[in-house]
Amino acid sequence: MQGKEISQAVIRRLPRYYRYLGELLEDGVERISSNDLSERMKVTASQIRQDLNNFGGFGQQGYGYNVKHLYTEIGKILGLEQDHNMIIIGAGNLGQALANYAAFEKRGFVLKGIFDINPALKGKEIRGVKIRMMEELGRFVPENNVEIAALTIPKEKAIEVARVLVDSKIRAIWNFAHTDLNLPEHIIVENVHLSESLMRLSYNICRYNEEHR
Ligand code: NAI
Repeated sequence: MQGKEISQAVIRRLPRYYRYLGELLEDGVERISSNDLSERMKVTASQIRQDLNNFGGFGQQGYGYNVKHLYTEIGKILGLEQDHNMIIIGAGNLGQALANYAAFEKRGFVLKGIFDINPALKGKEIRGVKIRMMEELGRFVPENNVEIAALTIPKEKAIEVARVLVDSKIRAIWNFAHTDLNLPEHIIVENVHLSESLMRLSYNICRYNEEHR
C-alpha cells in the first residue's frame, strides 16, 4: 500500500466496510464472499472488489474474505490501531453532546479536555473530563499530545480559534462550525454538516413521493 494514492471516494467508503465487518465479527462470521457482503451493504460486488483491490485485495478466489483479517487491515488503513487524543472547543449543546458520547473512545478517540470561554462552565466535568478556559489551550495541546480538536463554537469565532489551535500545534480539526477555515495544508480538516445530510434526506423523500404518486 505504501506510496500508493488512494482516492478520497474509497477512503469515504472504508468506515462503512469497517462497521459492517465489525458487526460480522460480533456475530461470529469468519469469512464472507464479496457477493454476500454486497447484499448486506447494498453496494455492488464489483465495487467491493475494486475498493479492496486498492489495498492488495484481501480476498481469495473461492474462499471470499477473511472477516477478521479484513477488519484489522481496514482498521490499520484508517489509523485506528493507535489512539488519537482529542479535545472539544465549545462546551455548548453540541460540544456537550459529543463529550457525552462514550463510543468514540471505543474507536480510540480519547477525550482529554473540553474548552470554552464561559467562566460559568469552568471546572465542570462531563464524563470525568474537565471544562477548561481557553487560556490553558496553548500549553494543554502539546502537554497532552492532543491531535484532534472538535470545533463546536459559533461560526463567527471559528476562524480566529482555529488559528489559535494551529499555533498550539494541533494536527487536525473536526469542524462543526458552518464556515471554511482555510488553514495551512499540514492541518487536516474534516467538515461535518448535519444539515447537508438532512437536505439529502429531504431530496430522497421528494424523489420517493414523486415516483409513488
Ligand atoms: P451553543 O451556543 O450551545 O454553544 C457554543 C459554545 O461555544 C458556548 O458554550 C460558548 O460559550 C462557546 N464559545 C463561544 N465562543 C468561543 C470561543 N471563542 N472559544 C471557545 N468557546 C467559545 O451552540 P451549539 O448549539 O452547541 O452549536 C455550536 C456550533 O456548532 C454552532 O456554530 C452551530 O452552528 C454548529 N452546529 C453544527 C452542526 C453541524 O452539523 N455541523 C450541528 C449543530 C450545530
